[in-house]
Amino acid sequence: MVSVTDFNITKINRSKLNDINLENIPFGKYFTDYMLEVDYEDGEWKTPEIKPYQPLLLEPSLAAIHYGQAIFEGIKAYKNLAGEALIFRPHDNFTRFNISAERMQMPTVPEEIFMDGLRQLINLESNWIPAKVDHSLYIRPFMFSTDETIGVKPSEKYKFMIILSPTGPYYATPMRIYVEEQYVRAVPGGIGYAKAAGNYGGAMYATAQAKLKGYDQVLWTDAYEHKYVQECGTMNVMFIIGNKAITPNLDEGTILKGVTRDSVITILNEMGLTVEERALNIDEVIEAHKAGTLSEVFGTGTAATISLIKELRYKEYDMVFDVTTWTVAPKVKAILNDIRYGKTADTHGWMMKL
Ligand code: COI
Repeated sequence: MVSVTDFNITKINRSKLNDINLENIPFGKYFTDYMLEVDYEDGEWKTPEIKPYQPLLLEPSLAAIHYGQAIFEGIKAYKNLAGEALIFRPHDNFTRFNISAERMQMPTVPEEIFMDGLRQLINLESNWIPAKVDHSLYIRPFMFSTDETIGVKPSEKYKFMIILSPTGPYYATPMRIYVEEQYVRAVPGGIGYAKAAGNYGGAMYATAQAKLKGYDQVLWTDAYEHKYVQECGTMNVMFIIGNKAITPNLDEGTILKGVTRDSVITILNEMGLTVEERALNIDEVIEAHKAGTLSEVFGTGTAATISLIKELRYKEYDMVFDVTTWTVAPKVKAILNDIRYGKTADTHGWMMKL
């Protein structure tokens, strides 16, 4: 078993932090001084290394490049009012990471590597956490297969890494969404619930087509009828209809079990809304819009946090919203932010101190 003291740490000579302006930082462009790297070989995880962020030297035959055994997670660290670094629900991401690993026939990562690795990295890099609302340090754990052979089989070797990126808002403005009914993201029995790299690559063509039509993202629907809503872009999705919040349920394995999704469901319940996790047909959404009861639509995700949807287009039917009148999504966002930045008590135990 690897314990905290078993990590090898190589120190940097000079931090890049002074070269970067942490105001208005685009998502995923800058990376911090350190990264964590650990190899899996001969059926076991080797000693984790924390070292200066640097390129990897990889063989062209690397299995992950050819057959896509590659998974990742997204987590955020915040700085509270007292200047302490706190990580939002990392244990839930750790659990989901290993669910993705199993689905992709990859080894699971031990908790002492994932969680202690996170703690040690953030400890070294806490100066990189932007102290500004809607800003945070995005944590990207990932794993990929490293066998150097192009035979199609589960790899015997893997690399698990964590990199960190200071970030501002992902979708800065309310979005226009196209309800997709030709291409699909996930099918029952597939890998939709896994945070597998291929799910994102597979989504790019349909998203690009929607962008050509002037939309920001697609709302995915089921593969059989193209009626039941799944995810929206890289986010889970919530509909406020009357005094209910409705979000697609996870039973078919086509939707990612979002940590932000779960947090938002908890907050919505506490706000007194009835939350329904169930199959949601786009026809029901349209009927609610026609009846005037569909009041808000928004996406939830680690990178995106809460993103307002100002337009939803299904075939010839356009649903346009005045997001400035909304009350639910902004309130949920404010409650989440207050917990994250330590302005309100963390009654759910969501914030992990280092
Ligand atoms: C996240 O919210 O962390 C995601 O995984 C979205 C990402 C692909 C930008």
